[in-house]
Order: sequence, then structure tokens, then C-alpha cells
Amino acid sequence: MKEIGQIAVIGAGVMGCGVSLNLALKGYPVILKDISADALEDAKSKIKSDYRMVKMMNRSLVTESLDEVLQKITFQLTYNNFNKVDLVIENVNELVDIKIGVIKEIKDLCKPDTIFAINTSCIPITKLASHFVDPSKVIGLHFMNPVPLKAMVETIKGFHTSQETIDVIKAFLKSIDKQSVVVNDSPGFVANRLSHLFMNEAAFVVYESIANPADVDAIFKKGYMHSMGPLETADLIGLDTVLDSLNVLYDNFKDSKFRPCPLLQKMVDAGLLGRKSGEGFYKY
Ligand SMILES: NC(=O)c1ccc[n+]([C@@H]2O[C@H](COP(=O)([O-])OP(=O)(O)OC[C@H]3O[C@@H](n4cnc5c(N)ncnc54)[C@H](O)[C@@H]3O)[C@@H](O)[C@H]2O)c1
Repeated sequence: MKEIGQIAVIGAGVMGCGVSLNLALKGYPVILKDISADALEDAKSKIKSDYRMVKMMNRSLVTESLDEVLQKITFQLTYNNFNKVDLVIENVNELVDIKIGVIKEIKDLCKPDTIFAINTSCIPITKLASHFVDPSKVIGLHFMNPVPLKAMVETIKGFHTSQETIDVIKAFLKSIDKQSVVVNDSPGFVANRLSHLFMNEAAFVVYESIANPADVDAIFKKGYMHSMGPLETADLIGLDTVLDSLNVLYDNFKDSKFRPCPLLQKMVDAGLLGRKSGEGFYKY
């Protein structure tokens, strides 16, 4: 069976940083590619602070020094050395056109046996896989945030994803101590089809002045023993990403239950994106 050695991560935002840090902590060399020089600079700071956070939360996950981890990650604006990678993990914004644009740029750059993993919240894998030369080598990997601390990766089988691709990816995920559940392709898969309804409805509760964010979250944390409330979770994900994901679910299912709460749209328009911008339902 094919073994994964060199990995490329595309998109150095919330998830690209988390995935790259996790891979480097497990000893994998990573190319981290973005189109924005500012995003790459921010990524260096984020990876450093996430390293400290992971060490504080679970020391057993961190066996290498910060310098050793950073040496494993090559930050770049180009597709240099993409012809040497065994696995590409795409983490650009949750917008179909941006993801397809990236696919068109990389599809002919890599080796014929390179596996392409798409990290998306809701976009159907089959829709994106159709833009690759060989869709049997394309799979969905829905990593959870913060990646190094989350043991589960929802793994999505696209219409053409081969059993060999699934087997290689399962072995790879095991090598980084992740559990995987393989599900069939559908918008939002399992996790986000459910969780985005939850976060959206929580936003409606605030929009309708039924309760404030802290009270909504307290009910779920103290009442249902959730470790985070729905609005804290939305802030952690990024309200722009939550909104994009709801729009993907709405467009794909054509079901009004996924229509985004106007408050979410207003907050995104106002630049309140959650933790990553310093303010969302809460101030950071
Ligand atoms: N945030 C979460 O909690 C979370 C969880 C699971 C999955 N996801 C999914 O992961 C993906 C990334 O989400 P995120 O929260 O990291 O987004 P983000 O907005 O934090 O980062 C996106 C990054 O992609 C970069 N980018 C945009 N176009 C690019 C291109 N053409 N080439 C290279 N880089 C490009 C941007 O510069 C930015 O740095 C999305 O599909 C999202 O739905 C997010």
C-alpha cells in the first residue's frame, strides 16, 4: 500500500495552520502554501501560539521542540516541490469557486499517484472531485478545530473515491493518532449538517432577543454538558465560514431550514468574524 511521506497543505488560515502543526508534531514534513504573504506571516505566529496551547492542554501530544516543529514546515507562496508530494490537503475558504480555482492549478502539478484530500465543512466532495484528472484519488477529510486536540476526522467517500484511496488515508490518519469515521458524500456530511442547524438557530435566538449569547451557551454547557455552547463554537470556527457553510447547505438542499440568520450576515458584513478577528458573539 502507498505510504505517505511529503505532504502539502494549501490555505494557511485557521484549519491550514492546525493541520500543518498537527502533521509536524507527528513528524511529517509539510509545505504550507497560501496566496497571501500576510496570511503566511500570520500563520507563523498562529502555529507558535497553537503549539503553546496544545502543550498546555495535553503535554503528551508534544514531544518535539517548537524549533523542530517549525523546521518541518516550509511556508511558501508558490507550488514549488508539489511534484514531490504524496498527499495534498486543501484548506482554502468554503467557497466552491475558490476551491475549484485551486484544483485547476494543482491537478497537473502532482505525481499520478498523489492523493488529494479536501477539507471542507459542507461542499460535496463529488462536485469538487469532478475537476481532477482522476477522481478516484480524491477524498474528503473534515478535520475538527483545533486540529491537534481533536481525535476525530470525518472522512468522506466521494462517488468515485477508490477503496485503495480510503485504505491509504485510514492508515495515514492512524499514523497521526486520529480516529476516522467514513461516511458517504452529501452536503455537510454528518457533523456540519447537524451542527450548523444548531449554530444558526442559536443565532436566531439572539436575533429575536430571546436570550443573550452567554445564556444560550450556558444552557448547553451546564444543562447538556457540552464542552462549548453553539455560539462559542461558531466564534471558534469563524462566522464567515459558518455563513458560507450555511449557504452551501441552503443551495444544495434547497431547503429553507438552512437559510442563514440575518444577524450572522450582518456580523460578517461588520467584520465580526469571531476569534480570528477579535470579536464575534464574544470579545477576545
Ligand atoms: N474553521 C473551522 O473550524 C473549520 C473546521 C472544519 C473545516 N473547515 C473548512 O476548512 C476550510 C478552511 O477554513 P478556515 O477556517 O481555515 O478558513 P480561513 O478563512 O481561516 O482560511 C482560508 C485561507 O485560504 C487562503 N486562500 C484563499 N484562496 C487561496 C488560494 N487560491 N490558494 C491558496 N490559499 C488560498 C486564504 O488566504 C486563507 O489564509 C473551509 O473549507 C472550511 O469550511 C473549517
